[in-house]
Amino acid sequence: MTPVQQQINELTDRLNYYNDRYYQDSVSEISDQEFDALLKLLGDLEKSHPEFRRDDSPTQRVGGTISKTFQTVYHRYPMLSLDNTYSEDELRQFDTRVKKALGGEAYEYVCELKFDGISLSFTYENGVLKRGVTRGDGRRGDDITHNIKTIKSLPLRIRGTDVPPVFEVRGEGFMPFSSFQRLNADLEEMGEQTYANPRNAASGAFKLQDSSETARRNLDCYIYSFLSDDDFFPTHESSLAGLRKMGFNVSPGWRKCSDIEEAILYIREWQEKRFELPLATDGIVIKVNSYSQQQELGATAKSPRWAISFKYQAENKPAVLRKVSYQVGRTGAVTPVANLCAIEERDLPYDKVKGVHLSGTRVKRATLHNANELERLGLRTGDVVFVEKSGEIIPKVTGVDVAQRDFFLTEPVTFPLNCPECGALLIRREGEAAWYCPDERGCPPQIKGRIEHFIHRKAMNIESLGEGKIELLFDRGLVRSPADLYDLTYDQLLGLEKNILNEETGKSKRISFREKTVDNILKGIELSKTVPFRNLLFALGIRFVGATVAEKLAAYFGTMEALQAASYEQLVAVPEIGDKIALSLKAYFEDAYNQLEIARLKAAGLKFENDGKPVEVESDVLAGKTFVISGVFLHYDREELKQKIEANGGKVLSGVSGKLNYLLAGDNMGPSKLEKAQKLGVTIISEEEFTGMLPGA
Ligand code: IVH
Repeated sequence: MTPVQQQINELTDRLNYYNDRYYQDSVSEISDQEFDALLKLLGDLEKSHPEFRRDDSPTQRVGGTISKTFQTVYHRYPMLSLDNTYSEDELRQFDTRVKKALGGEAYEYVCELKFDGISLSFTYENGVLKRGVTRGDGRRGDDITHNIKTIKSLPLRIRGTDVPPVFEVRGEGFMPFSSFQRLNADLEEMGEQTYANPRNAASGAFKLQDSSETARRNLDCYIYSFLSDDDFFPTHESSLAGLRKMGFNVSPGWRKCSDIEEAILYIREWQEKRFELPLATDGIVIKVNSYSQQQELGATAKSPRWAISFKYQAENKPAVLRKVSYQVGRTGAVTPVANLCAIEERDLPYDKVKGVHLSGTRVKRATLHNANELERLGLRTGDVVFVEKSGEIIPKVTGVDVAQRDFFLTEPVTFPLNCPECGALLIRREGEAAWYCPDERGCPPQIKGRIEHFIHRKAMNIESLGEGKIELLFDRGLVRSPADLYDLTYDQLLGLEKNILNEETGKSKRISFREKTVDNILKGIELSKTVPFRNLLFALGIRFVGATVAEKLAAYFGTMEALQAASYEQLVAVPEIGDKIALSLKAYFEDAYNQLEIARLKAAGLKFENDGKPVEVESDVLAGKTFVISGVFLHYDREELKQKIEANGGKVLSGVSGKLNYLLAGDNMGPSKLEKAQKLGVTIISEEEFTGMLPGA
């Protein structure tokens, strides 16, 4: 073994040990900085010696692999689903069937929470995590190994050695509420579609092509079963204990129950308690404990006869619709919002109302989506409506109790013709359900929204400003556009004060700008001048230009001037930039107001070009040639290869198609990409062959 290989081995073991201690035992034996420094060292060593990188290397936790498509793989054991019920009586019928089939033998159950995420299966060989696959159709699923390796609580190598050489564990992959809320807030900020519930968000994140983005989405997983060719554990209970010992994050809260009535008590116990958990649950799973009895009971084509799930009804409660208010977002879209109270709060003044008790919280406001939905529901203020938490998160109005309607005490709700904030006549774009306020320059929530977007963490990252402070600055007429931020002075800010009302909680907060606050604000604004050009481009809030598109444009054009001057044809020539984005960019840059805003931002000293030197032209030997880069290389990383190709006139594409000239293949490249390239007759070249094509080779 070479000294480098030995160092890689030692670092891998050491970092896995710290990770294991942290996630399984909640013990930090090392500071975050030290951990990151060691991880970086390992990453650098692996980069120069990819041949020594181990399958259980902790560097994979942060992702970095791009998978254009996922390979389909067959499950060694099919992944069945569960029979489910909403009634206690049906649970007793299930128990009667179990009793009968077991012919008088004694049996027990294990009850577990049913987590609302996506079903995953993980294969371990010689104790090392080899593969992670989605459920798919139950017989075969997608190989998402690169993405599941970013789950920090999932051991890359198990503890102990007394296990079968090959085994599979199964569990539920999920996105905790906290990550879900952060993700949605970010997406909203970027003007992108948000996820309706954590399950959809998790499912999307597990299927992302870029595993480093999956890593950023903070997924987690609870393990609930163990499978191997031999009968390794005698009972489900012992398998859960065994899995825990191996270092798995076993689903918490499970309990052994001696009969179905005990299981029913468990179900009732968790009915409300489950809302205290950091993730979504939608029921309870009841499993026969003994594995030999499970085998005796067998399965139908779809589900095992030894288990059943009890699903909690999505809570649906009556509430009184006090009024409908209309929210105007950053893009000008107008969303109707139901202002609700509990039936018994009907006569209370609205500021005293606490709201309807629903799935663990009190709800005062619920979305009504858009004008079509309002029309469909046919609402009147004063109506008794039904509210439900869709995906147990965002409350919505699902219907009206028409039988309770009193025509004299209720009034029809009509969608406004004018913007509730600025009075402009609303417009509706073809093919869209939302009504928009077109006055983007004069409508306060749109202006404030644009500034909030500008200062966002992923944009100019001005942490010392926030929604409340922007509201105050706007109120005093100090800021009307992002460029105004750079004209603010100490004297203007000192002493400003305002009470800000949080509509959701009904509480108000006093904001006052004292010396320290003002210092911080100005420092934050000053610091934003060093933020890279791509962030600035995203911060401008151009329609359809999210963070990823901004990054691509910045990398391609290099400077604001070049981007501003680009024609429609030049814009659509950029990989992954389509018609919609190109038109939006053209419209943005042709607008005189925007031109002035950009000139002011430039004068303020913001970064209008990429850092570092632009790609130097070396030759045009690769002119007209297209490349896809896949796998790991000996002398270059992928970014360096990309630069080399472009410096010599070539172009890098992301997907293999018939038009592609070369697939530049490194180690460990996805077999499906290779197969596709072979099928389409694309020339496959090695790193060596590639360097041979360059001048001076
Ligand atoms: S056991 C034969 N236990 O529910 C299937 N499933 O409808 C054995 N799920 O696909 C599954 N929590 O994704 C089991 N504690 C738990 C679970 C659980 C959630 C999901 C799982 C499965 C679906 C069945």
